[in-house]
Amino acid sequence: MADPLFSPQLRSYLDGLVPPRADEMAGMEARAAETKFPIIGPASGQFCYLIARLHGARTVFEMGSGFGYSTAWFARAVRDNGGGMVHHVVWDEELSREAREHLSALGLIDAVTFHVGEAIAALKQAEGPFDLIFNDIDKEGYPDALPVIERRLRPGGVLIVDNMLWHGRVFDEEDRDVSTEGVREVTRMVSESPGWTASIVPIRDGLLVARYDG
Ligand SMILES: C[S@@+](CC[C@H](N)C(=O)[O-])C[C@H]1O[C@@H](n2cnc3c(N)ncnc32)[C@H](O)[C@@H]1O
Repeated sequence: MADPLFSPQLRSYLDGLVPPRADEMAGMEARAAETKFPIIGPASGQFCYLIARLHGARTVFEMGSGFGYSTAWFARAVRDNGGGMVHHVVWDEELSREAREHLSALGLIDAVTFHVGEAIAALKQAEGPFDLIFNDIDKEGYPDALPVIERRLRPGGVLIVDNMLWHGRVFDEEDRDVSTEGVREVTRMVSESPGWTASIVPIRDGLLVARYDG
């Protein structure tokens, strides 16, 4: 039997429950599918939107934003929470330019600040504190990002981290790749720290949702 956790059937079922998106968002999803660009996808996007709404987030810092798909979900949440700012950070100039075009077409550009550069360095320089931080950078960077995130989240702030199941590679004890080890290490750090209250939600590739009380 195929692994039920990562079955295409489960994924398309959960994606299919998400209300239809604006044409621009649907175009971003199609572009990701064609080019195999790793966006969070509809079910995780909707879940991020939901968490941001439940939390009433008005200030969001996103690490590893790609061409702006996850940013669009957070920007919608911030707008629907009464307005605020989402920080889009990617180290690739071209992706940042593409993101500006998409967010502009979606009418969300005023809620987004764009940074081109390395995301942990950008967060160190950012003027927090933030209500919510979303981390989707290269996985070997996850452990180094956590202490910076702790300094920049407001008390009671929320962290969401993508790829916490890392396509099932975290279960494979033989897998000692730096990315897999990065995911395992940050999981240990969060679970062992009394400052964090966290769960991993197995939507798509696993989202860590955590509250920080310092
Ligand atoms: C997984 S993709 C992100 C997709 C985006 N979060 C979404 O769902 O639409 C990660 C993006 O961030 C970039 N990236 C990875 N590590 C980074 C880092 N440390 N600093 C800045 N950008 C990074 C990658 O090149 C890629 O474009």
